[in-house]
Amino acid sequence: MNSNFPDRPDAGGRHDSFAWTQAPRVHPAAMQDREAFEAAMRHPRYPRSSAYCPKWVFSNSMGGPINLWLAEELAARMDFLPGQRVLDLGCGSATSSIFLGREFGVEVWAADLWIDPHANRQRIVEAGLDKSVFALSAEAHRLPFARGFFDAIVSIDAYHYFGTEVRYLSYLSQFLRPGGRIGIVVPANGVDPDDPGSEPPKAGPAAEIGADWYTFRSPRWWWRHWSRTPAVAVELAEMIEGGLDDWRQTLDAATALYGALPALAELDARLLEDEAAQALGFCLVVASRRPDAPSPFFGPDEFETRIA
Ligand SMILES: C[S@@+](CC[C@H](N)C(=O)[O-])C[C@H]1O[C@@H](n2cnc3c(N)ncnc32)[C@H](O)[C@@H]1O
Repeated sequence: MNSNFPDRPDAGGRHDSFAWTQAPRVHPAAMQDREAFEAAMRHPRYPRSSAYCPKWVFSNSMGGPINLWLAEELAARMDFLPGQRVLDLGCGSATSSIFLGREFGVEVWAADLWIDPHANRQRIVEAGLDKSVFALSAEAHRLPFARGFFDAIVSIDAYHYFGTEVRYLSYLSQFLRPGGRIGIVVPANGVDPDDPGSEPPKAGPAAEIGADWYTFRSPRWWWRHWSRTPAVAVELAEMIEGGLDDWRQTLDAATALYGALPALAELDARLLEDEAAQALGFCLVVASRRPDAPSPFFGPDEFETRIA
C-alpha cells in the first residue's frame, strides 16, 4: 500500500479524491439521490475502490461495471511491486491508471485511443501523480514502446475490442520483459457462444448487440486463445465471482445519480435481464512472458498478421 497519502479513510481521514473536482468529467451529472448513489458505489469486495469519491469514479467511467472494481480484482492477481512499469492499455479516462499508481506505487503508461490524453493528464495531475502516471494516445496495434519495456501490461474492459485476433498477443507480449505479466478483465460469458448447444440469439438485446455478443467469451475460450501464443504461459482464466450482479449494481448507481437510467445504459439494462445473458459477467485472464520467448521476426512497429 502506498503510504504517501495520509488522508485515506483507512488512515482515519477522508480520501483525497473527494477534492478532485476541477478536471473535466467524462459524464458530468447533477446528483439526484446521493444516499442511493453512494450505497450503490460501495462494494464490500472492493474496499480500496470504495474509498474513492464515488462521483469522481462514476462520472469518469465509460459504461459497463465500475472499472476500479475490475482493476482491484485484477490487481489482486498481479503482485505489483512499487516502481514497476505498467502499461494500462485502453485505459479510457485513466482512472484505473491513477488507481494502480496510487494504490501500488507503480509507474503507469495510460494509453487509449478514444479519450483525449490532455484530459487524462488533467485528471492525473489533479490526483498528484504526474511524475508516475503518463497519458498518451495510442492504437493497440501500433504501440510506441521498445521491446521488453514493461514489467506488466493490464487492460480493463478493453482487450475484447482489439485482442480477439489470435496473433495479437504475440505482438503485445513483446513489450513485456521476460517473466513480465499481462492481465486483462473483459466482459465474458460463462457459456461460450460457440459451446455445443449454445444457440445464437435470434431476437432481443443479445441479438441487438450483434457481433459484440461474440466477443463475450468463456474463460475456457480465453485460456485456449492465449495458449496458442508460445511466448506466454497462461496462469489463469476465470470468471469474477458475482460479476453480473456488480454490473447490475452499476446500473443502480446510474439511476440514482441521474434520476433515471440514461439512454445509453438502457440496452445494458435490458441485456442483463435477458434470459440469454444470465451467464454474463467478467473474466480475468493472466499470463506471463516466458523467459525464453523468441523475439518475433516482425514488429514492434506495427501489428502484422504475419508475426507468429
Ligand atoms: C469500455 S472502454 C474502457 C475504458 C477503461 N479501461 C475503463 O475500464 O474505464 C474501452 C476502451 O478501449 C479503448 N480502445 C478500443 N479500441 C482500442 C484500440 N484499438 N487501441 C487502443 N485503445 C482502444 C477505447 O479507447 C476505450 O477507452
